[in-house]
Amino acid sequence: MAQESNEEFDLRKFVPEENQRKTFAKVFDKRTIQAVHKLSTKGYFDVLEHIISTGKEAHVFKARDKAGNARAVKVYKTDTSDFNKMHLYLKGDRRFSKVKKNKRDIVYAWTKKEFRNLLLANQAKVRCPMPITFHENVLVMEFIAGEDGEAAPPMKEAPPKDIKEAYETITGFLARLLFKVDLVHADLSEYNVLNTGKELVVIDFGQAVLNTHPEAENFFKRDVWNLANYFSKKGFKKEAEEMNADIKSLKGSLNSGKDA
Ligand SMILES: Nc1ncnc2c1ncn2[C@@H]1O[C@H](COP(=O)(O)OP(=O)(O)OP(=O)(O)O)[C@@H](O)[C@H]1O
Ligand SMILES: [Mg+2]
Repeated sequence: MAQESNEEFDLRKFVPEENQRKTFAKVFDKRTIQAVHKLSTKGYFDVLEHIISTGKEAHVFKARDKAGNARAVKVYKTDTSDFNKMHLYLKGDRRFSKVKKNKRDIVYAWTKKEFRNLLLANQAKVRCPMPITFHENVLVMEFIAGEDGEAAPPMKEAPPKDIKEAYETITGFLARLLFKVDLVHADLSEYNVLNTGKELVVIDFGQAVLNTHPEAENFFKRDVWNLANYFSKKGFKKEAEEMNADIKSLKGSLNSGKDA
């Protein structure tokens, strides 16, 4: 969308680097730029340093606040996403079932859903980015750094050294999500687990749904299938059914109270 000169002026404040600013202005509309600006003005971050990832539905930036802390800022696009698919995930989740079926409302609900899901996952003690705030289609969260200080690579590119230990960690995460906070990630694969070198961190919770969603069981099966496949390829042979049973067997060992 064409940018007017006053927007360009605003943009300079939080995207100081020229090439980054051009990309930003090209991809995001005026309201998105205002939303980023608002969060920046409130002090959640000072500048967007660079783009980490340009996905179909969102762009993720590395940002820094005035105190020098790195932040991840995920900006959902309001034009090119698959809104029908998003609406299906929202409609079946009782927290968002009343969402209106227009692009903007869907994307705002989606952003809020990722924020709420990250809170739940943190509550379940699943290692994932700590959500900091959101406004409209912009989500600010903890930045997950790799050994070089840049964004940690996904497990796909940086396989864990101890694959059995990784399997146990991930099955534990899935069990905690499901049995402690009733959540199914619904897009889990080796692409959405980052490996910092010290720990595995699950990301990308926008599509995660409560397990009362009519498709929750299918989403869960797909998550387990993806991961069992990954671990098998890495030499830790697991059928999806076996992994499913391993996750379910952890239920008893988790405290039954949701806050435990
Ligand atoms: N909190 C974070 N800290 C560091 N890097 C992050 C963080 N969140 C996301 N990223 C980076 O951005 C990439 C995309 O993030 P995410 O998967 O959440 O978005 P996405 O739009 O779903 O992207 P994709 O369509 O590629 O899955 C990640 O692979 C990772 O490199
Ligand atoms: Mg992703």
